[in-house]
Amino acid sequence: MSFKKVPGTRDILPEEVIFWQRIEDTARKVFNAYNFREIRTPIIENVLVFNRSLGEFAEIVQKQMFLIKNKEDTYCLRPEGTAAIVRAYLENNFDKTNPFQKFYYLGPMFRLERPQKGRLRQFHHIGAEIIGSDSPAVDVEIISLADSLLRKNGVTGYELQINTLGCAKDKKALVKLLEKELSGKSKGLCEDCQVRLKTNILRILDCKNEPCKKIVSGLNLGDKHLCEECLAHFSKVKDGLEDLKIEYTVAPHLVRGLDYYTRTVFEFKHSELGAQDAVGAGGRYDNLVHEMGGPQTGAMGFALGVERLLLATNVQSQKIDGQNLVYIIALGEQAKPEAVKILDNLRKAGVAADTDYENKSLKGAMRQANDLAAKLVLILGDNELAKKTIMLKDMQSGTQEEIPLDNLIEKVKARC
Ligand code: HAM
Repeated sequence: MSFKKVPGTRDILPEEVIFWQRIEDTARKVFNAYNFREIRTPIIENVLVFNRSLGEFAEIVQKQMFLIKNKEDTYCLRPEGTAAIVRAYLENNFDKTNPFQKFYYLGPMFRLERPQKGRLRQFHHIGAEIIGSDSPAVDVEIISLADSLLRKNGVTGYELQINTLGCAKDKKALVKLLEKELSGKSKGLCEDCQVRLKTNILRILDCKNEPCKKIVSGLNLGDKHLCEECLAHFSKVKDGLEDLKIEYTVAPHLVRGLDYYTRTVFEFKHSELGAQDAVGAGGRYDNLVHEMGGPQTGAMGFALGVERLLLATNVQSQKIDGQNLVYIIALGEQAKPEAVKILDNLRKAGVAADTDYENKSLKGAMRQANDLAAKLVLILGDNELAKKTIMLKDMQSGTQEEIPLDNLIEKVKARC
């Protein structure tokens, strides 16, 4: 019997993990520069945290939740971070003690989707949320932060699309307008959108099916459904982006799939990604904190998909410098315990070091050192030990010298 991983999940093997670590390290540096603090919430949450906030008819809630039923409650594997962070914000009384918060998070999310390129059932977010302000400056900061994360990770050739959904009232007006504009056109829509007409009409605007796209592109929605305040807010967001020289396109049909969004929404699209072309996305959710039992307060955030970020950078073709590994080879019975002590001392001094555990011949051990891309090789034989020396080989230059064992760790450290 052999076991296979769950469809839509991936083993991230050591050769690839180095790219993940680099992305995570870069992200932490960028978050620090923007003065965000990390938050870590559980991977399991009560399903109600998402059901209400993402919307009863959102695709995630309708068909993509990994549910865990127990006697009292239904838990789920979190499908996204935002609602969980708002839950944590309220449960930990930030609204009362320190309402303005800038959080960031890294971690796995789970959606029961049909797997395809760039669409997984376990994928990873790098995200951020600012809770406690409705200032357009926050929108600009969030978008500029996401843009910096992409740039610092070497992603180029992406397009930033932005739109405003307006406040809750404006959204209702947009729904009404759509109902009117789409009446009589329902037969031309795909099956899903025919259902959406009744349940989630806004989603028709960003349906990927050609017939729906065609109908949508013929709609003249304008901005009459938007109130003055929301139009002014959006205008300030656009000005702020221009001040920072962040290029964007206004995409009037960008609505995003989750109910909690209000006002500014945005997506970073990348042509390398095929059908799943958003490398990251986000927006405002000015009513969510209140809907989840807290005060009325503005909030905004985004999440990048790490797997899509990797696809967009074609990062695997990039070279990463390995660490400066020292490989120690012991030849002879007396040399062996001495070599283990040297290995231990090197590691305690913070030098990456390894050895052969299988009694390989000198040739075999050298081959292994080569495979591990060791920078230095130390060879200790019983003869050298008697003379209190050790052979040191520099694997880049190929030079070899016999050096005294005195102060060996310092000498090796100086070369790493
Ligand atoms: P989202 O658009 O659902 O937004 O996800 C954000 C990003 O996660 C997407 O742009 C994509 O790169 C990646 N992603 C989503 N689903 C998958 C999947 N099945 N496989 C691989 N990658 C995927 C949110 O989750 C919001 N919480 C973002 C946000 C934060 N809005 C406000 N604050």
